[in-house]
Amino acid sequence: MSDPLAYVGLDLGISTTDAVAGWAGERSVHVPTAPPEESARAALRLLLERTGSPPGTLVIAATGVGAQRLPRRLDGCEVRRVAEITAIGRGGLGLAGGREALVVSLGTGTAMVSVRGAAIEHVTPGNGVGGGTLLGLARALLGTDDVSEISRLAERGDRTRLDITIGEVCGGSLGALPADGTASNFAKYAAGARREDVAAALLNLVAEVVLWTVLLGLRAATQSRAILTGRLLLVEPIRRRIDEIGARLGGALVVPQRAAVASALGALWSAREGVAE
Ligand SMILES: Nc1ncnc2c1ncn2[C@@H]1O[C@H](COP(=O)(O)OP(=O)(O)OP(=O)(O)O)[C@@H](O)[C@H]1O
Ligand SMILES: [Mg+2]
Repeated sequence: MSDPLAYVGLDLGISTTDAVAGWAGERSVHVPTAPPEESARAALRLLLERTGSPPGTLVIAATGVGAQRLPRRLDGCEVRRVAEITAIGRGGLGLAGGREALVVSLGTGTAMVSVRGAAIEHVTPGNGVGGGTLLGLARALLGTDDVSEISRLAERGDRTRLDITIGEVCGGSLGALPADGTASNFAKYAAGARREDVAAALLNLVAEVVLWTVLLGLRAATQSRAILTGRLLLVEPIRRRIDEIGARLGGALVVPQRAAVASALGALWSAREGVAE
């Protein structure tokens, strides 16, 4: 009898490469993305160090932008490619449950996938504003792209020193728009602004752009529930702003446990179910 198969889900994203072991409680590791073969090897090595040898023949279920650049076999293991929209859709629904939703990947950029049963569609255009934008603008405006430092600064900052709120221009709420909603992000920026306030306004800007993209995505896809995934959700002030808006939307936004590794899990589950390119 041939060996059983042991699947590893591998998501080669623009910034991060995640690997998940199907045989060991779906334990995961991540490494920064370098050339795809290098990151794939580094992530697999680290995963196997943590989990020990797989109980069968290793099959790599690869997704993300770097997956196309992997060879068909890597260090003797078969590589099965899973389309990124399939991995995002399958991962989001697998974690949050149900059969239909808009699944959003909040990664370096922002991508949206509409799932209705077996039908999975890319919702275009998504948005180039995402986690990469946050880090790039933070380098320009704050001189750092250390996520913990940006978050720490923001905790002590006040975004309304830079943003014009609805209340400020209208004297209160405006129809459905609350007084603390934003009329214009960053409009009051001036030289000498406190770094703390810039950090707070920057995190809020990225959170709002991705949130409004998700709300428009729900309309475009005519769906009522968005499942949010991706590592941007690990940035605490962004997560808080998302939760705050989510609470006003009565359950339309769902952030499942393990959202940061949703696509790697989606690749693993898809390949195990025989869905690969
Ligand atoms: N500790 C951290 N270090 C670096 N980035 C972090 C950290 N925590 C959260 N992030 C955010 O996560 C973003 C990357 O998210 P993720 O790993 O999901 O993207 P990706 O899969 O590499 O990209 P894409 O899906 O767009 O190809 C970064 O741009 C950053 O804003
Ligand atoms: Mg990704």
